[in-house]
Amino acid sequence: MNKNYYITTPIYYPSAKPHMGHAYSSIIADFFARLKRIQGFNVYFLTGTDEHGQKIQRAAEEKKMDPLLFCNDISKTFRDLSDTLNLSNNDFIRTTESRHAKSVKNLWNILEKKKEIYLSKYSGWYSVSDEAFYTESEIEDLDGIKKSISSGSKVEWVEEESYFFKLSKWQDKLLEFYNKNPNFILPETRKNEVISFVKSGLKDLSVSRKSFNWGIKVPSNKEHVIYVWLDALTNYLSALNYPNESDDLYKSFWPADLHLIGKDILRFHAIYWPAFLLAADIEPPKRVFGHGWILSGDEKMSKSKGNILDPLEIIENYGLDPLRYYLIKEVSFGNDGNISQEKLESCINSDLANNYGNLCQRVLAFCEKNSNLEVPTIEDLTEDDKIILNQYSKYYDNLLVYSDNQDVNSYINFIVEQLFLANKYFNDQEPWKKKNDKLRMNTIIYVALELIRKVTILLYPIIPSSSLKVLGIFGINEEKINFDTIKDNNYLKKGLKLNKLDILFKKIEKND
Ligand code: ME8
Ligand code: MG
Repeated sequence: MNKNYYITTPIYYPSAKPHMGHAYSSIIADFFARLKRIQGFNVYFLTGTDEHGQKIQRAAEEKKMDPLLFCNDISKTFRDLSDTLNLSNNDFIRTTESRHAKSVKNLWNILEKKKEIYLSKYSGWYSVSDEAFYTESEIEDLDGIKKSISSGSKVEWVEEESYFFKLSKWQDKLLEFYNKNPNFILPETRKNEVISFVKSGLKDLSVSRKSFNWGIKVPSNKEHVIYVWLDALTNYLSALNYPNESDDLYKSFWPADLHLIGKDILRFHAIYWPAFLLAADIEPPKRVFGHGWILSGDEKMSKSKGNILDPLEIIENYGLDPLRYYLIKEVSFGNDGNISQEKLESCINSDLANNYGNLCQRVLAFCEKNSNLEVPTIEDLTEDDKIILNQYSKYYDNLLVYSDNQDVNSYINFIVEQLFLANKYFNDQEPWKKKNDKLRMNTIIYVALELIRKVTILLYPIIPSSSLKVLGIFGINEEKINFDTIKDNNYLKKGLKLNKLDILFKKIEKND
């Protein structure tokens, strides 16, 4: 079995203020990276910034800044964000780095040599905000302003000499590829959208621009810069030291296992990207998963719409793990999700403070009082004990399937259910009434500790730092976390001295 796993986030357009949609995309990717790592995979997790193109050039001009200096500043805000979000990324790539330019030029040269690219003229609509070309049928006129129907962003007329990629030629090969790789695009609804778009007919794609210069130059014609999406997508290869195909990173991690992206950039990842790669004789990635949007009111949260919920403020006020938990649990994965501070607060109170936090605190407090904060000697397990402990081995295979299918919702539903059952177990068993039957009382303590250990391993990819605090009571550090040990019913050894646990999550008091 191939135990390497390569997962990427989209590389972000450096905008001055990262918003909740960006945070969401990154947190979900980090969840998968950590989940795969504890399952024994050698994970390579990439994120970074997408710094070329007209959008960035204009943003720099507005600030009267040199574009590279502008990008240096703003790329840093995204690097800082990845720290703030506690991302476990292995690399942070910037498309202004020379390793990336080398890789893009190489890909371009191959495409040109294979006659997949030709020089002609583009005349049509272009959205600088989306860095995308649109056909007449994809735009609408709103009060005299032409806008993309799908994104709502303004389009402008472009007429200039341009290189084209022979995308039309790849239409049938792409359909064949989707057919042979039925899980290449997930979720299913997104796949169907892509397939019907491809079936409706692909036109050759303009892949260079001449009217501005902020980008990677076409190697054979310095008057042109390479289309920013051809440039940006190639970052996934650059980070593995492509074009050096004998490089260890490249050999171990290409083709990528998962490009996790938002649904707005599905066309680029699920159509253009595999077409470029097939044309260059490079194996396409294994999967593109298009998640939904974080909405504010009924609209996509975005800088251009000005409806930003600031992740940094939320983290400052509530902490990172609560935000991670909330986004992963409450936004039904794959769909759009409407988030609010109110819902965040009630999620913290019900799930984290009352359910998980309370379970940990009360069991530990009871253990401290009655068994000296040590893993106690126990007697045979009862049926009730076994049933609850065995939930994890019973659902182990399902949990792996959830991980492989990006079924975040089923994964977290299992956790919520187990938290409920564990609390119920401790209540129903009433260990505080068993002080005359010390062995039974100890056994209940033991089962409860094992349940905390197991559920916390499952929670680790979602709330890593809180989970590490809890696993720390058993002396389990990050390197020792092993997903398979959720099947183990006697992992904790008799006499093990437990460490104390600070308050995990503070309940939010409503002051009205
Ligand atoms: O698209 N909800 O960058 P980007 C959820 N540079 N996800 C959202 C979102 C929202 N409200 N708003 C944005 C780009 N995203 C390109 C990517 S990859 C080779 C190049 C997601 O900064 C969006 O879907 O506009 C995308 O996955 C990511 O944030 C970066 O968006
Ligand atoms: Mg965008």
